[in-house]
Amino acid sequence: MEKIKTGKADSIKRMKLYRYPERVYNEISAAGYGKDALLKEKDIRLFDQYHYLGTDVVEDAINFLEAGLQSRLIEIGSGLGGPARYLAEKAGCRVTAVELQPDLNQIASSLTKRCGLSGLVEHFCGDILEFPEDGGNFDAAVSWLAILHIPDRQALLKKCFNILKPAGKVFFEDYCKLGEFSPEEEKILREDVQCPYLPTTEEYKRQLIENGFTDVKLEDKTACWSDFVRGRVEKFIENRLCYAKLHGNEVADGMEDFYKKISQLFHKGNLGGVRITAVKPDAYLKRRR
Ligand SMILES: C[S@@+](CC[C@H](N)C(=O)[O-])C[C@H]1O[C@@H](n2cnc3c(N)ncnc32)[C@H](O)[C@@H]1O
Repeated sequence: MEKIKTGKADSIKRMKLYRYPERVYNEISAAGYGKDALLKEKDIRLFDQYHYLGTDVVEDAINFLEAGLQSRLIEIGSGLGGPARYLAEKAGCRVTAVELQPDLNQIASSLTKRCGLSGLVEHFCGDILEFPEDGGNFDAAVSWLAILHIPDRQALLKKCFNILKPAGKVFFEDYCKLGEFSPEEEKILREDVQCPYLPTTEEYKRQLIENGFTDVKLEDKTACWSDFVRGRVEKFIENRLCYAKLHGNEVADGMEDFYKKISQLFHKGNLGGVRITAVKPDAYLKRRR
């Protein structure tokens, strides 16, 4: 699909999580699959999800959205394409996976092809804010830990509203602000997490309502995400030698630093996690109410 040029893809590369995305290929090889071997979606589930708690939460999205063979979904910030492939494999739905960074998008596309899912998952490289609006084609917009990179919430939510069909739904998981960040926390968020702005849950809700959404529901995920990120650091440190052997010391240093900073942020208590669901009203039903 068409590629959109954007400078945002350069600045987001400062985040260590995104510096060496090719490491997924090392992981796939270490799991015993040859360089160009055909794969099944489930073979790479452990390596291709950049959000928290893996495919269980993608399953939650399938259930909430009642996604099936007829559904057309868009994923905002699709990374290596893991959630999009899971949605297609499990629900049989079509997914447009929108990813800002060309190298991630390229890897995502190659993995989708190797998994035999190119007929259902279409990869689109570019900024979601520039995604063409041709009249509301999608049944749902989903996103995991990508919106935190997009400070212009007004433009983003307007875009979501316009690309959804009437009665279309959103299912997002994202960071939120629980308390006032210290200057040090703000710096980590801005530089290491490429997250220049975070609303509180109440602000999130208001922004969705102001942009026309109804049935806005927010579910606090802070406790389980705090546990997850702490466990991730502990596991990383335990396996650090193997990790460095597989990917090299520089990659290992970068990932350790990134995982520790995220864990610190959660445990200071000002960063939270939230699942957000909402619906674009159906004009016909609205008139009848
Ligand atoms: C933490 S990753 C999550 C990837 C994927 N959702 C997953 O869970 O595996 C967030 C992704 O959002 C992408 N992203 C950030 N801003 C974006 C934008 N404006 N448009 C499209 N993608 C964006 C980033 O490049 C990154 O790959």
